[in-house]
Amino acid sequence: MVTVSGFLRISVFAVCGFFFIVFLNQRDVHPYTKAPIKYTEPIQDEEPTPNFTIPVVTIADVIKHQKFYMHKRFAEFQFPSNLKLSNFTLATGGQPIRSVVITTWRSGSTFLGDVLNAVPGNFYHYEPLLNFGIVQIRGPPLAQLAISNLKNLLKCNYYDMQNYLSYGKTHIYLFTHNLRLWNECEQYPQFCWNATFLSEFCKLYPFQSMKVVRLRLKLAEELLKDESLNVKVLLLIRDPRGTLQSRKHREWCPGVSDCDHPDLLCTDMVSDYSAAVDLQKKYSNRFRAIRYEDLSLDPYKHVRELFDFFGLNVHQNVINFLDSHTKANSGGVSSTFRDSKNAPFHWRNDLNFSEVQYIEDNCEKAMKLWGYVRAKNESHLREFNPVTSYVID
Ligand SMILES: *[C@@H]1O[C@H](CO)[C@@H](O)[C@H](O)[C@H]1NC(C)=O
Ligand SMILES: *[C@@H]1O[C@H](CO)[C@@H](O)[C@H](O)[C@H]1NC(C)=O
Ligand SMILES: *[C@@H]1O[C@H](CO)[C@@H](O)[C@H](O)[C@H]1NC(C)=O
Ligand SMILES: *[C@@H]1O[C@H](CO)[C@@H](O)[C@H](O)[C@H]1NC(C)=O
Ligand SMILES: *[C@@H]1O[C@H](CO)[C@@H](O)[C@H](O)[C@H]1NC(C)=O
Repeated sequence: MVTVSGFLRISVFAVCGFFFIVFLNQRDVHPYTKAPIKYTEPIQDEEPTPNFTIPVVTIADVIKHQKFYMHKRFAEFQFPSNLKLSNFTLATGGQPIRSVVITTWRSGSTFLGDVLNAVPGNFYHYEPLLNFGIVQIRGPPLAQLAISNLKNLLKCNYYDMQNYLSYGKTHIYLFTHNLRLWNECEQYPQFCWNATFLSEFCKLYPFQSMKVVRLRLKLAEELLKDESLNVKVLLLIRDPRGTLQSRKHREWCPGVSDCDHPDLLCTDMVSDYSAAVDLQKKYSNRFRAIRYEDLSLDPYKHVRELFDFFGLNVHQNVINFLDSHTKANSGGVSSTFRDSKNAPFHWRNDLNFSEVQYIEDNCEKAMKLWGYVRAKNESHLREFNPVTSYVID
């Protein structure tokens, strides 16, 4: 015999379970909605509410559910070489496709980073050296921690990353660009900065991308050397006049020598060039360089070539991203919505001739190596083509 109160108790359990299942299923259909956690409404009943335990969501639950979601989401997905999700995720002993962009501030990396992040299943390690501040890392003493952080992240190892995580807690833009992670952080803020959660979540993703603006290329060889990472490294270069013009308007830049001194920027460009020559010899299939100006003038062609290099398929989302982000100017200062054919060159109108000359005088060698030409006079400046050919040799 089932008593009335026993029946009620069973019903309440059933209702709770039902809501919980509905909740999980809704997340499947709209994985990135921000549904707040709501297990049950209070039960409206004449009878006293029977006591029961509200199921507590644990890190293991979230990971398990995400695993289930990824399985479904990528069942029909066209992976490179006709392989499967499990061949690419660390959680299943696979090898992710790892793409690293090495560049410096205001060199077009927001755009390129977002292009890579348009690939479904990409986990975006955005500016992982943010906690180092406005500095360029060229060697000891900072290099060791920087390289170790980058390697850890590429391996989805968030343990022993306290320097990084505690910075992130108060500077959330460390994570907000990683949309797929940030979505979980919004739903489960209690787990967001937990190393176990981050490591397990990251390991479910087949594509891992990273853009780094604080580490010079010579040091990035440490990543290429690590065979277990099998990482591809792209050096992104921009005309120093365009870079410095853009930096003038960032409040964190003026007065910081690594940021606003043309001679430091251009010395780095020269050393990046030497490193590029070296890496191209040693890692011909895993290293590549590109200029922001070339990318912007023909984004479709260059993105195809770059994806080929990275070993990624050009997904329709990537095409959609290019369609919507290369044709019109709108949005804020770090916006990637722009007329891509003009965006790299607007410094010609925003700097006066003496400012341009000052940069050019400090950048003679760098400009020669990377194929940038000097302006002859004020009127020439406004209309000339600053880009010519270059070779890495
Ligand atoms: C909840 O109900 C169980 C029996 O179903 C009882 O043993 C327990 O003491 C109750 N707890 C509270 C806090 O009332
Ligand atoms: C891909 O993964 C399957 C198992 O999930 C495995 O049998 C196969 O060998 C893997 N292929 C490659 C190329 O790693
Ligand atoms: C992270 O979560 C795990 C598993 O729930 C827990 O054991 C660990 O103490 C948490 N770490 C921190 C720093 O809160
Ligand atoms: C060029 O711009 C700089 C900085 O805005 C200014 O100090 C300088 O006077 C300008 N030079 C000329 C010739 O307009
Ligand atoms: C500026 O330079 C261009 C190209 O060398 C030249 O044709 C033009 O006469 C120059 N203008 C002035 C005002 O010197």
